[in-house]
Amino acid sequence: MYMERVRIFDTTLRDGEQSPGVSLNAMEKLQIARQLQKLGVDVIEAGFPITSPGDKEAVSLIAREVKGVVVAALARASALDIETAWEAIKEAESPRIHTFIATSDIHLKYKLKMDRETVIERAVAAVKLAKKFTADVEFSAEDASRSDLDFLCRVVEAAVKAGATTINIPDTVGYAEPEEFGEFIRKILEKVPVMDRAVLSVHCHDDLGLAVANSLAAIKNGARQVECTINGIGERAGNCSLEEIVMALYTRKDVLPFYTGIKTEEIYRTSKLVSNLTGMPVQPNKAIVGKNAFSHESGIHQDGVLKERTTYEIMNPRLVGIPESRLVLGKHSGRHALKERLLELGYELTEEQLNEAFVKFKALADKKKEVTDQDLEAMMEEEIRKVPETYSLEYFHISTGSTIIPTATVGLLKEGEKLEEAATGDGPVDAIYKAINKITGLAPVLEQYSINAVTSGEDALGEVVVKLKNGFGKIVTGRGVSTDILEASAKAYLNGINKLLFDYQMKGEKQ
Ligand code: KIV
Ligand code: ZN
Repeated sequence: MYMERVRIFDTTLRDGEQSPGVSLNAMEKLQIARQLQKLGVDVIEAGFPITSPGDKEAVSLIAREVKGVVVAALARASALDIETAWEAIKEAESPRIHTFIATSDIHLKYKLKMDRETVIERAVAAVKLAKKFTADVEFSAEDASRSDLDFLCRVVEAAVKAGATTINIPDTVGYAEPEEFGEFIRKILEKVPVMDRAVLSVHCHDDLGLAVANSLAAIKNGARQVECTINGIGERAGNCSLEEIVMALYTRKDVLPFYTGIKTEEIYRTSKLVSNLTGMPVQPNKAIVGKNAFSHESGIHQDGVLKERTTYEIMNPRLVGIPESRLVLGKHSGRHALKERLLELGYELTEEQLNEAFVKFKALADKKKEVTDQDLEAMMEEEIRKVPETYSLEYFHISTGSTIIPTATVGLLKEGEKLEEAATGDGPVDAIYKAINKITGLAPVLEQYSINAVTSGEDALGEVVVKLKNGFGKIVTGRGVSTDILEASAKAYLNGINKLLFDYQMKGEKQ
């Protein structure tokens, strides 16, 4: 069967980072970008450089460091935005400027306060300016799905004639319905003959839970680029989920004769990394990457799967990189066994990294009888999130109960010096955090605190994720893992504090 290629434009680092409460620093963005490149996306939208110096710096870093993939930067249809976007991506191997302006009457009237002719002029000027910097220019008609079709077609035609090589049709507010959206795409291609010079892309939001369905309908009607994010994160209800659209195309190639360049075995690891670094958990029933996506609960289903996997499984979990869960190592396991198992899980470590991992593994194996794949992954994810440890946890003592005021004594190490403070709080976690504040002199706002069991059983590892906000409004995510939830809480808070301090150092700001 003849199959056509669909390009995957990943906007996890731009639209995904616009998810409420998500803020990634430059190193975290770089880590995700490297994994996206490994995953095989065609385009990484690295950010929106005009929005902050930090974002511009992160985009530049990705442009310099990540090769073998197109690196895009977003810009409104204005000279300053486009020049700033170019500044940020000019060192990329394959740079793309992505410029946009809204085309719906509602946006023209209330947001832009512009008439239609001015919008066309701005779009053309923006594409022409971007074209001076790079041949690869994408133009988006924001709120396209609620725009008048004839006007939209005029804008699209003008943008292609000005030099746009990709035309993106966003369903910005997630309003479209699949059949209608498919028709819309087909009509644009019919009415704008010059579209044979450009790739038609779609960018669907998930406000009605239809982002993947709308993107598939668009592909069936001629779209050849899909904009999506890992775990479907993004503005409001998020974007079309990369893993869902890719696996739908892969699994149903019988009715969807298209392929992508995605290495599906990297999907699960990418999902984990994004969830970890953004602090946005993946819901258990999330398609493809949720904890339950391949779990069979009912006896009838379990029986069926044991007899023949395909009775209740349309995809092999191995295909998306989900490791088979099995008990592996114990406290007598050696370095070699650990190295081999980590390699199977996809972690290729240097000798130095292996030494560090081995020390952690031994400490964990002392507390747990058996160390499972999930334990190892949790341990490695803690490594992934690591920032220079200005403060590390040396010890803590808690005195608490239903009739006494919770009191914590905490000992931290800073450059070899032991620092100790005690504090009382509303509960044991609050007392620990207050003691840490006293030592570090910082008092960030605890915006979010969540606790989860990463593994099962009595000696399960608990994972605490916190979001901390400093006085400048900067939000960081801290994470800590331990068999003791109070220790996990302390580690998560310190991880957040160390990140805030790292951020100050990077920016040369005062604490
Ligand atoms: O949703 C949207 O319209 C966007 C554009 C900037 C592409 O994110
Ligand atoms: Zn969007």
